[in-house]
Amino acid sequence: MKRLKKTYYIHTFGCQSNKSDSERVAGDYEARGYLEAKDWHSCDELIVNTCAIRQRAEDKARGFLHNVVVYFNQQGKRRPKIILTGCMTHHGNDKLYAMLPMVDEILPINEVGFNQAAIRKDSLTAEGKKHAWIPISAGCNSFCTYCIVPYSRGREQSRSFESIMEEVERLVAEGYSEVSLLGQNVNSWGLEKVGIGFRKLMMERKDFTRDDLPENQSQYLTPEGTPPFVKLLQAISAYPQIEKIRFLTSNPWDFHDELIAEIGKNKKIDRFVHLPVQSGSNAVLYRMNRGYTRERYVEVVNKLRAVDPDITIGTDIIVGFAGETDAEFQETVQLAQEMDWKVGFVAIYSPRPGTASWRIYPDDIPHSVKKKRWEVLDQIINKDNLSIRPKIV
Ligand code: SAH
Ligand code: SF4
Ligand code: F3S
Repeated sequence: MKRLKKTYYIHTFGCQSNKSDSERVAGDYEARGYLEAKDWHSCDELIVNTCAIRQRAEDKARGFLHNVVVYFNQQGKRRPKIILTGCMTHHGNDKLYAMLPMVDEILPINEVGFNQAAIRKDSLTAEGKKHAWIPISAGCNSFCTYCIVPYSRGREQSRSFESIMEEVERLVAEGYSEVSLLGQNVNSWGLEKVGIGFRKLMMERKDFTRDDLPENQSQYLTPEGTPPFVKLLQAISAYPQIEKIRFLTSNPWDFHDELIAEIGKNKKIDRFVHLPVQSGSNAVLYRMNRGYTRERYVEVVNKLRAVDPDITIGTDIIVGFAGETDAEFQETVQLAQEMDWKVGFVAIYSPRPGTASWRIYPDDIPHSVKKKRWEVLDQIINKDNLSIRPKIV
């Protein structure tokens, strides 16, 4: 008798990077002959793709695993093989160690790789266009003091131009017309070998050219000093079949003038730009190690609106960061009133074990104050779309 094919099911927590990784994990399973199960109750292998950005995200993953294990115990059935992947699997995560008895295998996220063919579901937009997420980089080198991502996803690693373009070509052949490029900081695509100190200098000195870089690093910039990411946007836009390009996420500190100019003239690039500010207070931004000031953020937004008044901006903000005084919070409130953001993902600060802020700044804002600040900002920024705004307390 022919043996039935084995089945897999992927449960994904977290951000779009995780959702995109899950598409490639699915590709890997299907390439090995597995079929997708309709839910986790009936699969042979269950992959849980985790998020570690805030404590609540980790609690959710643990709660889910607990429910799975309890369910199979109660049914008296053998549970599926449980494979944990995603941002909770990095070494040194105490929560991970506590979950190990419920886990059969760990799949480090970097092993998923960029080049595994993805199984894309939910790829139709409301207008019926085919849309694909394309990872262009993994990891992060920015080390914002509150953030676990540089630890959970490791050092920034850009996917090669050739590999990205091959995927674009395949997508175009399959009838896709919209793409979203994914990276923790897409602006820095292709530049991780140029040290972050040099790149900060590049942004500060407008006359900086590749000749100012040490020879072994100058190869990464184009002769004009154009950031590689701009070249990538131009190369993808050159396909007549590609109608719309989005990218996520951009960091304000290296949002280059040439990128702004490209957005201005290349109307295939979405008119909505997501530009997280995190705080409107320079003192808080400094403690967060964001690498820019409030003034610099406002400058970038003004330049974007100057190249095209139709551009709308979204943001991320953290409230109740370590030591955030009322006066510092009021600076964020005031910025929110000035900026007219289309949408804001407001999050309550959650100290992440192992990060710099967890080590050096006490988490000294009471939860009730954090919650109140969250409500104030959410009301100001998302008042026109309270029904669709993200709830990430
Ligand atoms: N690379 C992106 C952000 C990825 S994390 C960027 O730099 O913009 C998504 C958002 O989660 C961040 O923008 C931040 O607002 C929030 N966040 C990250 N770490 C957090 C923490 N420890 N507590 C609360 N919110 C956090
Ligand atoms: Fe985290 Fe900062 Fe990197 Fe974004 S840029 S992933 S907030 S360290
Ligand atoms: Fe994304 Fe969560 Fe990891 S927000 S990068 S899945 S920590």
